[in-house]
Amino acid sequence: MYRDTPHAVRLKDYQPPEFLIDRVDLHFELDPDRTLVESILQLRRNPAATRGDGSLVLHGEQLDLEAIEIDGHPLTGSEFGVDQDSLTLHRIPDRFSLLTRVRIHPSLNTALEGLYQSGDMLCTQCEAEGFRRITYFLDRPDVMARFTTTLVADKARFPVLLSNGNPIEARDLDGGRHLVRWEDPFPKPSYLFALIAGDLSAIEDRFTTASGREVMLKIFVEPQNVDKCDHAMRSLKKAMRWDEERFGREYDLDIFMIVAVSHFNMGAMENKGLNVFNDKFVLARPDTATDVDFDGIESVIAHEYFHNWTGNRITCRDWFQLSLKEGFTVYRDQEFSADVGSRGVKRISDVRLLRAHQFSEDAGPMAHPVRPDSYIEINNFYTATVYQKGAEVVRMQANLLGPEAFRRATDLYFERHDGQAVTTEDFVRCMEDASGCDLTQFRRWYEQAGTPELTAEGEFDAETGVYTLSVRQFTPPTPGQPEKSPFHVPLAIGLLGADGEDLPLRLEGESEVPRAGTRVLELRKEEERFRFVGLSAKPVPSLLRAFPAPVKLRFEQSDEDLMFLMAHDSDGFNRWDAAQTLMQRLLLTLVRDPDHVVPDRFCDAFRSALLDTAGDQALLAEVLTLPTEGYLADQMDVVDVDGIHRAHAVLERRIGECLRADLLGVYRANAGDGSPYAFTPQAVGRRAIRNLALHYLMQAPDAEILGLCQDQFANGDNMTDVMAALSLLANHGGTEGKAALEAFYRRWSKESLVIDKWFAVQASCSREDALNQVLHLMEHPDFSLRNPNRVRSLIGVFCNANQVRFHAPDGGGYRFLADRVLELDPLNPQIASRLLKSMIRWRRFDRVRQSLMCAELHRILDTEELSKDVYEVASKALEAAQ
Ligand code: TRP
Ligand code: ZN
Repeated sequence: MYRDTPHAVRLKDYQPPEFLIDRVDLHFELDPDRTLVESILQLRRNPAATRGDGSLVLHGEQLDLEAIEIDGHPLTGSEFGVDQDSLTLHRIPDRFSLLTRVRIHPSLNTALEGLYQSGDMLCTQCEAEGFRRITYFLDRPDVMARFTTTLVADKARFPVLLSNGNPIEARDLDGGRHLVRWEDPFPKPSYLFALIAGDLSAIEDRFTTASGREVMLKIFVEPQNVDKCDHAMRSLKKAMRWDEERFGREYDLDIFMIVAVSHFNMGAMENKGLNVFNDKFVLARPDTATDVDFDGIESVIAHEYFHNWTGNRITCRDWFQLSLKEGFTVYRDQEFSADVGSRGVKRISDVRLLRAHQFSEDAGPMAHPVRPDSYIEINNFYTATVYQKGAEVVRMQANLLGPEAFRRATDLYFERHDGQAVTTEDFVRCMEDASGCDLTQFRRWYEQAGTPELTAEGEFDAETGVYTLSVRQFTPPTPGQPEKSPFHVPLAIGLLGADGEDLPLRLEGESEVPRAGTRVLELRKEEERFRFVGLSAKPVPSLLRAFPAPVKLRFEQSDEDLMFLMAHDSDGFNRWDAAQTLMQRLLLTLVRDPDHVVPDRFCDAFRSALLDTAGDQALLAEVLTLPTEGYLADQMDVVDVDGIHRAHAVLERRIGECLRADLLGVYRANAGDGSPYAFTPQAVGRRAIRNLALHYLMQAPDAEILGLCQDQFANGDNMTDVMAALSLLANHGGTEGKAALEAFYRRWSKESLVIDKWFAVQASCSREDALNQVLHLMEHPDFSLRNPNRVRSLIGVFCNANQVRFHAPDGGGYRFLADRVLELDPLNPQIASRLLKSMIRWRRFDRVRQSLMCAELHRILDTEELSKDVYEVASKALEAAQ
C-alpha cells in the first residue's frame, strides 16, 4: 500500500544488475501460519555492471528477518538496513555467500502472491515480483541462478512436497515430519521458482522425447478431482509432441508436473518443471465442463508447456520485454490449437478476442505498446496488448518470412539465446539474420501503441481492365504518443470473379500471370496504390484475408458484395467477417432507427448459410453469431447502451421467428447420436450449431420450444448442452428459469467450478433486476471475495458481460463496482485492479454516465492506502484525454 504517489519504472532507466547470483539454497520449514525460510545465496559482482558503490540492495517484502550472515559471520546492526521493501548490505566483498533466515505467514496471504494457502495446500506464485515475499533476493528476471530447495513439513498434513527440477532426496524426520529435496539444474530467474505442499493425488503417464529421453508426467489435484484429469494429460502429451515437430523443441528434465490450485489470480504459471494451474484449466469431465472449458484446458496446458523454451530456457531481460515470452508463447499455443483442431474456427475466435479486448484497450486510457516503456505496477501489464497483440506481431513476422525462414529464425533464436535473459529486439534480430528481411520499420509494432486504421478504396476501369486499390493508414494518438509513424502492414487480399472463384492477381508491370488466390501486399507508406491488370470485369475484393495484421479496415462495400463474399469467399475467415460486417451494419441501423424493418434478404442470406450443410458446423455457428453488445458499443462514437441492447434483442427475436422451421430442423438434425461425449472438432461443431439454433428459438419461445429447452436442460448428457439450456432458461425467467437454477445448484453444490458457472449465468442475465440478484448472490454462503474464480464469475461477469445492466443509467452498477474494488483492494490488489478496468473507458458514454463513472473513479482515488495496482488504473483513467 502506498504512502506517497507511486513512481513509474521506465525502460530507458534499465541498468544491468550489480551482482549476479550463481546458486541458491533454500530450506523451508512449512507451516501455514508461520513458515521459516532459510536462504543461502552465492553472490558475485557482475562484470557487466556499469556502476556499483560497494553496497547492495536486495528486494524483500513482508518478511520478518531473524538472522543474517555473510560468509558465516552474523552481521551487526550497522552492517545492514531493512525497510518496507528492501534489505541493504553496506560494505560487501566482490564475492560472498549470504545467509538469511526469515518468517512468512502463508495463511494471512490473501494477495495470492508469494507463498500462500489455498484450501489445505500451500503453494506459490512468484511472477512477476512475488519471490521477494518469500525471501530477500535480486528479484528481477535478468538474475538467473541454480536452485536447490529443501522442503520440511508435517507428513500427515503435507504428504506431497514439490519444487522445481528433479527430486534428489526424501526421508522421514522426527516429530512426524518429512523432508524432500529438489534440484533444478537449469539456471532460472526467481519468478520461475515454485513449491507445493499438500495432500494431493496424482495421475501419471510417460512421454518419450524424439531423442529418446523418458519423461515422467504427473498431474496433482485434490483427491476428489482425480477423475477430471484425463483431458489435461492428453493435451499435455499432444503439446509435447507438437513442439518437437513444429519447433524442434524437446523437454529437458526427467519429470514434468502440473498442480491444480483453486485460488489463483490468473490462468496458470509456467514454473520450471512444476506448472501451477488455476484448477479451471485442468479439471474437466464431460458432465462438469463445457466445450469451451475443454478447449481452454488444451490451449492453456500447451501455453504453459511451451513456455519451457519461450520464457524459461530463454527469458526476459526486464518486465518491459514481457511480450518476448508471452506474445511468442500465445502465438505458439494458437498455432497448436489450429493444428489439432480447426484452423479457421481458431482464427475467428482469436480475432474476436483481439477485437473485443485488445482494440478496446488500445483505444482507452491504458493503451500501451507491445513493449511498454513505463509502468507503475507491472501486474497491470499482463494485458491483451502484451499477450494477444504480441502474438499478432509474431504472426506477422512468421508470415512475412514464410514457414521455412521462420523456422530457421526460431532455431537461431533458441540456439543463440539459450540460457539468457533477452529483449524483443534480440528476437527481431534473429528474424532478420535468418531471413535477410529488413524489419527496421516493422519494429514500430513493438514501440507504438494504438490500432492502425486502414481506409481502402477500389476503382475498376472497364476500358483498361485495371482494378486500383488505394490504401491509407492512420493511427490515432494514445497516451504519451500524440503522433505515429506509418507501420509496415502485410495485406493479404483476393479478388473474386462473378462466379465466386478467385482471380489471378497480376500487379501492373509484372509479366508472369500468378496463380489465382490470395496475395500478400506490403503497405509501408502512409498511402499506397496497387494496380491489378488483366481483369475482364469488376471484381469483388476480399481484403485482409485471415486477418494478416491487427488493424481496423474502413472499406465501402455494398451489402450485396458482402453477401457474395459470405457465400463464396475461399477464405473461411473472410466469409465470417463479411457476415459480421453485414450484421453489424444492420444492428447499428436498428440502433439509430428503432422502426427499421429487418429486410427479407437478410433473413434469406441467413437462411441459406444455415442450410448449407456442406461446410464445417463450428465455422457456421461462428458465421451466424451476432456481434456482441460490447463490440457494437466499440463501433459507436457515443455508446447507446439501451439502443444496442434493444437492437440486439430485436434482431435475435426476428431471426428466431422468421427462421423458426429451419432452426428447428437444424436443432433436430444435430441431436447427439447416443454415442458418449467426444471433444472432436465435429462433435463440438454439432453442439455449437444446435445450441445456437436453440438460442434463436428461445428469443420468443412457445410451449414447444420451451419444452425442448427444458428437456435439454434436464436430460443433456454433457455440460455444454446443459449450460446452454440453463442460460436460456435463466434469461427467459419465470418459474421455468427459477426451477432450472435451483435444480442445477442442488445437483452441483459440491463442484466448485460448476458453481462458478451457476453464479456467472445469473450475473450475465439481462433481466431487469440483475444487479439486485447479484447483490443477493454476494450474500450466498458459497460466495467469497477470497476466491478469484468466484469473484470473476459474479462481479467480473456482471461488469463485463452484462453491458445493459452494468451501465444502468442510475449508476447502480458503477457504485457496485467501486464498492467491490475498494473492498477487494486490501485483500487482493491484482484482482481489484483487473475489475476496475471495466470502468476506465468512461469517456465513450453519454454525459450522465460519464459523470457517474467519473465520480466513482474519484471516490476510489481519494481513498487512503490504495495499492499501486488500483492507483495506477484509477489515476490513468482520469488523466486528461489526448
Ligand atoms: N506467466 C503466466 C502465463 O502463462 C501468467 C502470469 C503472470 C500469472 N503473472 C501471474 C499467473 C500471476 C498467475 C498469477 O501467461
Ligand atoms: Zn504465458
